[in-house]
Amino acid sequence: MKYEICLLPGDGIGPDVIASAEMVLNCLPLELRFTPAEIGYGAYQRLGSPLPAETLTIIRRAHASLLGAVTSPPNIPGYFSPIVRMRQELQLYANLRPCRSINHPSSRPGIDLLVVRENTEGLYSGIERLEEDGNRAVTERVITRRGSERIVRKAFELARQTGRKSVHVVHKANVLRQTCGLFLRVAHEVAAEFPEIETKEMIVDACAMELVRAPEQFEVIVTTNLFGDILSDEACMFVGGLGVAASGNIGLDASVFEPVHGSAPALVGKGIANPTATFLAAAMMLEHLGEHTQAGRLRAAVEACIAAGETTPDLGGTLSTAGLTSKVIEYLRQPVTQ
Ligand code: NAI
Ligand code: MG
Repeated sequence: MKYEICLLPGDGIGPDVIASAEMVLNCLPLELRFTPAEIGYGAYQRLGSPLPAETLTIIRRAHASLLGAVTSPPNIPGYFSPIVRMRQELQLYANLRPCRSINHPSSRPGIDLLVVRENTEGLYSGIERLEEDGNRAVTERVITRRGSERIVRKAFELARQTGRKSVHVVHKANVLRQTCGLFLRVAHEVAAEFPEIETKEMIVDACAMELVRAPEQFEVIVTTNLFGDILSDEACMFVGGLGVAASGNIGLDASVFEPVHGSAPALVGKGIANPTATFLAAAMMLEHLGEHTQAGRLRAAVEACIAAGETTPDLGGTLSTAGLTSKVIEYLRQPVTQ
C-alpha cells in the first residue's frame, strides 16, 4: 500500500528531527510519499499565518502527518497557537501519549502507561473574556456528551487492543460537579460496553500524586483536556523525558503525530537535538496505519540504541542528531532474525 505522509517541520529543532525521521522512514520497506507543509512562527513570518489553509488541506488529504515542533512567541498580534487550532479545525479529538520504561538509568522500571487526553474541548475550548474593567477574566470549560463519549470509547478500545486490563477515568467531579459530572456519567455508560476491562475512578489531584508515588499501577488514563495536558507531561518524566516522549493526535479523518517537546531554541544550529521522540512518533504513525511489523522494527532499533548507550547528550551520550540517525539506520539494516 502507498501512503501519503504530510511532513510539518515547523520551527527551531523541528526541521532537524523531521529530516532525521524522513531518512529513517525511507529505510523501511514501505511505499511512503512525503509532502511538506508549513506551520509555526516561520510560516507566520513568511506567509502571514502560522497555520495556512493549504496546510490543513494537505493534512486532510494525507493518510497521516508527522510534525516537528513550533515556536509560539507570546504577545505577537495575529498569532495563535497553530497546534491548538489544528486540533480543533481537524477535530483531532484524541491525544495519545504512551509512557513506557526505557532501558536507561534515568528511567523508572515497570511503566507501560497510555494517557488518552481529550483534545478539542474542556478548558481549551477558546471561550474566554476579560471583562471591561480589566479586573475579572472568565474562561468557559465546555464538556459535551459527544466529546466525552468519543474520548472514553477510544481509551477503552485502545485498552482492549493492547491487552490492558484497566482504565483510570480521571476527573474532579467532587468540585466541578456539572462538567466533570457529565464526563464521569458518560464514562461509566461507555465502560459498560467493555466488561472485561476494569474501570477505576480517580480524582485528578490524587492521580498527580499517585503518578509520582507508583506510576506502574496505571495502564490507561482517560481524562479531559487540561488535566491530560498536565498529567501526561508529568508521566513522561519517569521514562526518559522530552527527548523520547512521543504523541499522536487522532481524529476521524486526519491524524498528526509529534514529539512532545517544543522547538528548543537553545539547541538550534548545534546539531544535538534528540530525534528519538520523533522516531517514536513515526512508529506510532505506522501503528496507526496498520503497519505493525515496521512500527515494531523502528521501535526496536531505537531501543537498541538506548540500551547500548548510543544517545544524544540529553540522555548522557555523545552522539549528534545525525550520528544517532545513522545508528538507528544501521540497526534497521541488520538482517531480521526470526
Ligand atoms: P522545549 O520542549 O522546546 O524545551 C524544553 C527543554 O527540553 C529545553 O531545555 C530543551 O533544550 C530540551 N529539549 C527539548 N527537545 C529536545 C530534544 N529533542 N533533544 C534534546 N533536548 C530537548 O520547551 P520550551 O523551552 O518551553 O519552549 C520552546 C518553544 O517551543 C516555545 O516557543 C514554546 O511555545 C514551543 N513549544 C512548542 C511545542 C510544540 O510544538 N508541540 C510544545 C512545547 C513548547
Ligand atoms: Mg503540554
